[in-house]
Amino acid sequence: MNINVNKSKETILVTGGTGFIGSHTVVLLIENGYNVCILDNLSNSKIQVLDRIRTITNLDKNDERLKFYKGDILDKIILNKIFKENKIFGVIHFAGLKAVGESCIIPLKYYDNNISGTVNLLEVMKENNVKNIIFSSSATVYGEQSVQPIKEDAKLNEPTNPYGKTKLFIEYILKDLYSSDNTWNIVLLRYFNPIGAHKSGLIGEDPNGIPNNLMPYVTQVAIGKRSHLNVFGNDYDTPDGTGVRDYIHVCDLARGHVYALGRLFGNHGLDIYNLGTGHGYSVLDIVKTFSKVNNINIPYEITSRRSGDIATCYADPSKAYQEMGFKCELTLEDMCRDSWNYQKKNPNGIE
Ligand code: NAD
Ligand code: UFG
Repeated sequence: MNINVNKSKETILVTGGTGFIGSHTVVLLIENGYNVCILDNLSNSKIQVLDRIRTITNLDKNDERLKFYKGDILDKIILNKIFKENKIFGVIHFAGLKAVGESCIIPLKYYDNNISGTVNLLEVMKENNVKNIIFSSSATVYGEQSVQPIKEDAKLNEPTNPYGKTKLFIEYILKDLYSSDNTWNIVLLRYFNPIGAHKSGLIGEDPNGIPNNLMPYVTQVAIGKRSHLNVFGNDYDTPDGTGVRDYIHVCDLARGHVYALGRLFGNHGLDIYNLGTGHGYSVLDIVKTFSKVNNINIPYEITSRRSGDIATCYADPSKAYQEMGFKCELTLEDMCRDSWNYQKKNPNGIE
């Protein structure tokens, strides 16, 4: 499917483009006729992802439609080099550190990488007169909300960890930037819980060490790397007592970015969209659905709550549909099937 038909052929800089969400988005950008430059320091992804993107999109190594720069958003020299060597139309900014627990141990690294890195990127964009950006924000900026599903205009609550705070601060930075200069086009996308993988099984989530997030943990139990899943609490005020989240297939999420690019053409100003399905599923729903569609038993034990977790969080996705025509198409069954397909094809991650 070609989205933004007349607007392709532009070149998009994708920071963090070899990561989980970035790689799926790069595939869709190329399939929709965009040229892509990736900037990634490979701190949480592997160079082999590039070949896999090329395999999926049928590009050979020298094809200029996909360029890769190994480097850091904290480095202005490489950023300027990219803007000088390419006619960049806009930036999709995924690069960032994202491990909640780690951010409590090394907060300065998170503030430096995520916040200083973003300010650096914005300064170089401004110097090069490129003022179109899509930013990867997170539902974490909502914190605990009494009203569900969550709409974009909900009052934001301070996140419980430094990672979440970096997302909130960057939202403030981008809002202030827009107030100071309304020739910027800025889209803040608040992701709910991305899972799943590309149908090919060639790209997916490739966590280092013990996974923090639910789905990679479940797939590692399924493949026999971990004995069982720890379910963090069954005494929440939810239908079965376990935490409820809005899981979104990473391919739907990637498609949301291609729709969001449409907001960078013309002068739309600053937009904020939830990217979620609007459905809340519990931890046990995930375990049951995964077991059913893949015919694999997932042993689990109920343990105590994880600090910082909230009971329920799911999106009202209607604004993205009304203003961009975007809605999710893939089901929880698809997410569980594709996550497992990726794990089976890459038992030790991308090698
Ligand atoms: P990821 O770790 O797979 O991808 C991030 C990529 O950025 C990695 O390839 C990493 O090497 C790169 N990177 C990190 N710091 C960099 C730097 N200073 N310079 C250059 N490259 C750098 O993570 P993801 O799941 O694909 O997430 C992408 C973005 O979406 C992140 O900003 C994340 O915070 C945000 N987000 C993710 C989730 C989630 O659950 N996955 C939810 C909400 C928001
Ligand atoms: N869970 C378990 N066992 C596990 C892992 C998770 O029971 O081993 C539970 C959690 O308690 C929670 C649910 O599964 O109820 C989902 O947990 P995740 O860690 O997968 O996701 P979170 O909702 O906690 O956080 C994720 C990202 C954050 C992001 C947030 C909102 O990790 O970066 O979604 O987008 F901010």
